[in-house]
Amino acid sequence: MWAKCTVVYTSISGNTEKMAEAIADGIRATGCEVDVKDMFFAKANELAEYDGLLLGSCTWGDGELPDEALYFYEELDELNLQGKKAAAFGSCDSNYDSYGAAVDLLEEKLRDRGAEIVVDKLKVELLPTDEDTQSCREYGRAFTGMLSKQSTVRA
Ligand SMILES: Cc1cc2nc3c(=O)[nH]c(=O)nc-3n(C[C@H](O)[C@H](O)[C@H](O)COP(=O)(O)O)c2cc1C
Repeated sequence: MWAKCTVVYTSISGNTEKMAEAIADGIRATGCEVDVKDMFFAKANELAEYDGLLLGSCTWGDGELPDEALYFYEELDELNLQGKKAAAFGSCDSNYDSYGAAVDLLEEKLRDRGAEIVVDKLKVELLPTDEDTQSCREYGRAFTGMLSKQSTVRA
């Protein structure tokens, strides 16, 4: 199956970046093409080029996206993502009440803009362990498995 995916992430201390790389490895292992981008340097309108969209972020402040993600996040409001398959992920810390709230925000925004969420959001506690990294690879693989499925979102 030919499909193109992008993994766009924000990571302050590297944990979500590690997740992004492992998810991308899982996607590549299926033969799909994938571009990995830092959200700070990415433009939301570039998402139009892809069939599959994975957005990742750590959670900062009191359950917020970090500043580095805000411009991209706001740009998403300009987009119609109908027909796109999507998912959200990020590293979190269970010592905070708003566990991984930034991942929830990204998933909500994708859905709000018309994308179909094809796999449940993935939250990992702090630095991914080897087992978490393997789960991220499997997550990427499972995501691509959903790309060929017929959309359940009405246009
Ligand atoms: C100032 C600050 C605020 C944070 N707020 C939250 C939070 O509300 N919820 C949460 O799950 N984690 C929170 N975290 C934890 C980070 O999301 C966590 O350390 C994560 O692993 C960082 O990922 P990164 O390495 O990709 O930046 C916070 C961390 C800091 C330093």
